[in-house]
Amino acid sequence: MDGNLIQALPGPHNLDNYEKVYKNFDFASVEKEFSWFETGRINIAYEALDRNVTEKGLADKTALYYTNGPRVEEYTFGQLKKLSDKFANVLKKFGVKKGDRVGMFLPRSPELYISFLGILKIGAIVVPLFEAFMEEALKDRLGDCEAVAVVTSPDLKSRLPLQHLPALKHVFVVDNERGGNVSATEIDWHQEMQAAPDTEAMVWVDRETPMLVMYASGADGKAKGVIHVHNGMVGHYITGKWVHDLQPDDVYWCTADPGWITGIVYGFLTPWMFGLPIVIKGGRFKAEDWCETLEKYGVTVWYSAPTAFRMIISGGDELLEKYDLSKLRHILSVGEPLTPEVMEWSMAKLGIPIYDTWWMSETGMNMICNYRCLPIKLGSIGKPFPGITAAIVDDDGNELPPNKIGNLALKAGWPSMLRGIWGSEEKYKEYFKFQPWFISGDSAYRDEDGYFFFQGRVDGVINTAGERVGPWEVENKLREHPAVKDAGVAGKPDALRGEIVKAYIVLNEGYEWNPDLSEELRNYVKKGLAAHAAPREFEVVPGIPKTKEGANDRKALKGWALGLK
Ligand code: WT7
Repeated sequence: MDGNLIQALPGPHNLDNYEKVYKNFDFASVEKEFSWFETGRINIAYEALDRNVTEKGLADKTALYYTNGPRVEEYTFGQLKKLSDKFANVLKKFGVKKGDRVGMFLPRSPELYISFLGILKIGAIVVPLFEAFMEEALKDRLGDCEAVAVVTSPDLKSRLPLQHLPALKHVFVVDNERGGNVSATEIDWHQEMQAAPDTEAMVWVDRETPMLVMYASGADGKAKGVIHVHNGMVGHYITGKWVHDLQPDDVYWCTADPGWITGIVYGFLTPWMFGLPIVIKGGRFKAEDWCETLEKYGVTVWYSAPTAFRMIISGGDELLEKYDLSKLRHILSVGEPLTPEVMEWSMAKLGIPIYDTWWMSETGMNMICNYRCLPIKLGSIGKPFPGITAAIVDDDGNELPPNKIGNLALKAGWPSMLRGIWGSEEKYKEYFKFQPWFISGDSAYRDEDGYFFFQGRVDGVINTAGERVGPWEVENKLREHPAVKDAGVAGKPDALRGEIVKAYIVLNEGYEWNPDLSEELRNYVKKGLAAHAAPREFEVVPGIPKTKEGANDRKALKGWALGLK
């Protein structure tokens, strides 16, 4: 390490000369990597899965290592192809077709990946639903996109507010390791799978056919259904090659949940495009289990988040000394700022750098990153991926010079970019109010060498342990509680989680603040919305700061949370 700089690793790497490639690269040159370049037949499920069997001779190679307590399984590409064909045929049997939205509400399990691929194969659209979502969050998402089917588990299904989801016709219940009975009104996933043929089920689509509606929280209003299309694969593939530097012998582990975009794009689609085995670990995070998993499967490329690294760091040297992590070639990080201490820990204890990757649900692929061939500046998210123009613009969309903090903007038009917001042209247009820029909602600056430095969200969206929480959704839930007259929510800085959800509460007459009420309100949000969205801190205030229009003033609330009240 040289001051604040970590030198580039010696090559060869898939990307060896960043500056030169950056100057000349065009995404169109990636298209020849796909079968459809010759055949004209397009489906991301073919490129990620079936092609490994039909063209690459990898039918017997392990595609998925699954581990969750006593349940330990392995699946080859050949097996997954057949199983996902089966599920695609099940969906066809029930009349689910191209363009239909299908919710995916399952804990991490092989059935989730099989179902996911099955849905893509018939050209239907997956709606990922994080396992922690409760009734209200599910109603908003499945209701907004009028999903016709959902794949779920015995213990999650009871949260589905079926009476509020008139479009939802089929509930496929996977009787997985958690046990439970399937009631007569639902469809038994396993029974149908057993009966279904594993004949080819692929439906060919266009590059612009939607494949995913990914709900992402904004600052105000309900979560937005970010639409991604099959063409996104162009961006997935080339970032897998150049950012993740994927090599034929790699074993890849992305710890993000497939309820979020990272757990989908890099959790399985991208590594499978390279014919690589992925590791999926079910259950909750435990630092020790994670180290054991890295060792057991000989993980070579690990994609995770600063909160996880910090939890492993807090396990101390004893934890690391127990495990052999020498197969790791490098680590990648996403979702929240990668602080210099974490990078220094990795260099000192593991002897390898962590490559930060900045992107978001809306971008569909890694956008600003560090690369093996470039020196890393500590605290910087790196440089734009080839083919991506990034800039810092002011609140009128004018480009700012180096070292000035402003809105992080990206020139619209990359292959994995969102194509719309479900049901709202208006919300989609908000991202593009300053042509030619896509406005990310993050603030950042760029230094003279072209490195970007992330500063925070500008719009009040909260990032707690890498999970995106919309303050409006939490406030709305809190206001439903009889004790709450008004509520304002903001992210408060936190050493472990980056930010925690902090709620300012105006009490209704007749209510007094006490620790029980704090616990009750926390549980109220947890049970109604999702555990990760529940405030960890409350403060009673006489009033919530408002804008001229009468909405919660996000800037003022953020100021409060930063201690400026
Ligand atoms: C927000 C997007 C797809 C990425 C996972 C989260 C924050 C993302 C970084 C990073 C600091 C980051 C931003 C962004 N974020 N990557 N490397 N360093 N912050 O996707 O849920 O759509 O959240 O996560 O604030 O806007 P998401």
